Amino acid sequence: MAILLTGGAGYIGSHACVEFLDKGYDIIVVDNLVNSDKSVIDKIKTITGKDFKFYEVDIRDKEKLQGIFKENKVEAVIHFAGFKAVGESVLEPLKYYDNNIGGTISLLEAMKGSNVNKIVFSSSATVYGTPKTVPIREDFPLDAINPYGRTKLMIEKILKDLYNADKCWHIGVLRYFNPIGAHKSGIIGEKPQGIPNNLMPRVCDVALGKEKELTVWGNDYPTGDGTGVRDYIHVVDLAQGHIAAYEKILKKPGYYVYNLGTGKGYSVLEIIETFQRVNGVKIPYKFYPRRPGDVAKCYADPDKAREELGWEAKYTLEDMCKDAWNFVVKNMAQ
Ligand code: NAD
Ligand code: UFG
Repeated sequence: MAILLTGGAGYIGSHACVEFLDKGYDIIVVDNLVNSDKSVIDKIKTITGKDFKFYEVDIRDKEKLQGIFKENKVEAVIHFAGFKAVGESVLEPLKYYDNNIGGTISLLEAMKGSNVNKIVFSSSATVYGTPKTVPIREDFPLDAINPYGRTKLMIEKILKDLYNADKCWHIGVLRYFNPIGAHKSGIIGEKPQGIPNNLMPRVCDVALGKEKELTVWGNDYPTGDGTGVRDYIHVVDLAQGHIAAYEKILKKPGYYVYNLGTGKGYSVLEIIETFQRVNGVKIPYKFYPRRPGDVAKCYADPDKAREELGWEAKYTLEDMCKDAWNFVVKNMAQ
């Protein structure tokens, strides 16, 4: 029996493939490569020394997807495939609803058709909207504030309805905080297409000299140094959280929700300071007004995942900054 990973060629999915393979699981990857590259599949094989089936298929293609489920013995699905750019989702909401929600429904139908009833879904801390307090617990009110976030929230609701209608399902919803970093080997990591929006890829662009300085969005937040605070989590910790979640949901049907974060918040200035110190590079920066839609502080209460999954993040901010830069130097420096 294999575990099928949708979006397994992407940033988080590729790290999850490595962790599942390293733990001895058989996997199958389905990805249409809309935001990734075929070479990642070979890189996963290089790192792990293991082979697996890869299907270059769009999960919205119901016929092909159902064929994959018929052709293979699938135990469970880890569902990463989807679009993730908040700004783009505001400009092109239909593209996001179609791919994220349409893709998930097509996937759930294919699973149902082949009696596969175990799924772990990539949700996001974005479903908490603007939290009234931090740290954020799983039972906080949910309120997405942009189309991307709404797709995540709607998918969570679809999954809950599915479980309510048929209590045989085993469903794990993982709300990620801010994944950064890369595999220690420097072979796989985050390779954003176009101009990145997120902090760590932008810090790396400045360190590479592609950008003159980093724009720091806002220095008047009610935080220690006035810049935004986030819960950055090493992508390998996050990937391992999926194994813990899969092994948990396997035991008993249910609808389970977990935050995957470290529980620690770091400011933009702390990220810049740490990145400079551990990598010996300079990150010039300039303050700009707040970015619309940003919250002051967002970090997880990770207790539920620790208590119920026996999982907790172990990598430090230093590790995250070192590993992110190691990947960039090996893959993107001219
Ligand atoms: P990514 O873009 O690197 O990976 C997504 C993968 O899915 C890509 O390889 C892409 O080609 C594939 N894909 C997209 N649509 C597809 C489709 N219709 N059929 C088949 N494959 C498709 O993104 P990521 O950072 O690895 O994120 C993975 C998941 O985690 C996404 O669902 C994302 O919304 C969620 N998430 C990411 C973050 C983050 O900061 N990276 C935070 C919270 C949640
Ligand atoms: N920031 C800068 N300059 C930049 C980029 C970011 O100062 O060039 C700041 C932001 O203002 C914020 C922090 O760095 O304070 C982190 O910003 P990111 O864009 O890296 O991450 P966000 O927390 O804003 O967004 C992430 C994901 C979204 C998800 C959201 C909520 O990228 O997909 O978390 O979970 F919706």
